[in-house]
Amino acid sequence: MDTIVIGGGNKLHGKVRISGAKNAAVAILPAALMSTGKISLSNLPDINDVRTLIAILENLGVAIRRRGRNAVELNPSRLRGYSPPYELVKKMRASYYLMGSLLARFGRAEVPIPGGCDLGPRPIDQHLKGFAALGVDIEIEHGLIKLAVAKMRGAHIYLDVVSVGATINLMLAAAAAEGRTVLENAAKEPEIVDVANFLNAMGASIKGAGTDVIRIDGVSQFGSAEHMVIPDRIEAGTYMMAAAATGGEIVVEDVIPKHLEAVTAKLREMGVTVDVEPERIWVKRTDHLLPSDIKTFPYPGFPTDLQPLSMALLTAAEGTSIITENVFDGRFRHVDELKRMGAQIKVEGRTAVVEGGQPLSAAPVAATDLRAGAALVVAGLMARGETVLSEAEHIDRGYEQFEEKLRGLGASIKRVRSRGGIMV
Ligand code: EPZ
Repeated sequence: MDTIVIGGGNKLHGKVRISGAKNAAVAILPAALMSTGKISLSNLPDINDVRTLIAILENLGVAIRRRGRNAVELNPSRLRGYSPPYELVKKMRASYYLMGSLLARFGRAEVPIPGGCDLGPRPIDQHLKGFAALGVDIEIEHGLIKLAVAKMRGAHIYLDVVSVGATINLMLAAAAAEGRTVLENAAKEPEIVDVANFLNAMGASIKGAGTDVIRIDGVSQFGSAEHMVIPDRIEAGTYMMAAAATGGEIVVEDVIPKHLEAVTAKLREMGVTVDVEPERIWVKRTDHLLPSDIKTFPYPGFPTDLQPLSMALLTAAEGTSIITENVFDGRFRHVDELKRMGAQIKVEGRTAVVEGGQPLSAAPVAATDLRAGAALVVAGLMARGETVLSEAEHIDRGYEQFEEKLRGLGASIKRVRSRGGIMV
């Protein structure tokens, strides 16, 4: 696994362009399988999860042409089957979207049970409950989820849990069901709206995405479409927090400020100057950081994906902050790593109490998931000395050119590649 070496103490300054949203792209690529026309996607983030999905689509028979780093043209008119390869699917959780899109295309799908990851258990019971409501027969054996249905019929589905994945997966399947499906208690993330817009561009009939009630009238055919992926609000929030953490001044460009309102509000509460323009946000921290209480919630609440970043940042605040993780059980794997750098953090259940004010000191740490990895890089930027972060591949799943973009902002950061365990 590669390591990233971070020299602490530089204040970030300058401009950084934000890439397309990972959590929209990893649903839009599987959704493209539903079309029998030609699909052109732009503003795709150049990250490992996208590369993995492109490999899966090619394996299923999609003809794909890359148009530069961030655009592809797909021709899914001739697919070879509905069983994506295990060795690729197990690399990423979001491959579960292949269930919804293959059901829409074939009425069949055989997808390995998605791996958990270090956010604690990641059940998909709501996805399966919804598929069953649409009339799909579900069998789980030998680690495979086998789904089959002659013709899906629209249903009224009430989600027990506000789930991004279940909302999107059921939108994919219901788009091809006979009649109307209503999803109640749906998640409202901007990425869900982006997927719905893409599906409608292909000929679907979806209304209400972005609210907690989504109406889907099934259609029998999906045609050609062009789509530009929305900007990644979590990537943008990562750089905004990194600027605040280092006492710097940066501009994040090509963003949709509305998607970052909870983050902007929190940073202002901490005493950070945040100015918003139509497609860019300017972040500047000059004086002391104030402690703040953060509670994660589904959108439009404070995003769970920025909880690790906010924890690293709040170690620099003068006082006590309380962080409550309401979305995932156990999304505190980064706490032990931050404590190795001298952070004073106590965890009780879903709550972490952060005693700020003591400067962090560099130490060897390990990334446990992509957001924890990004948080440890930010901690390294704040710490005295040189931090060595191992398991850096986690970061590559969701951040395009992470080191390059940070170096462009004045960070002292470099990657040491390991080939077969030898650092090169
Ligand atoms: C999506 O994961 C994102 N991933 C996550 O981002 C993000 O943290 C999460 O939504 C919440 O915003 C992608 O979009 C690829 P959920 P997802 O279903 O869909 C429970 C990142 O770093 N639940 O909204 O898997 C679940 O356990 C990643 O980019 C059920 O109980 O999350 C969790 O507690 C990390 N049953 C809560 O709901 C289900 O069937 C929210 O999960 C599904 C979910």
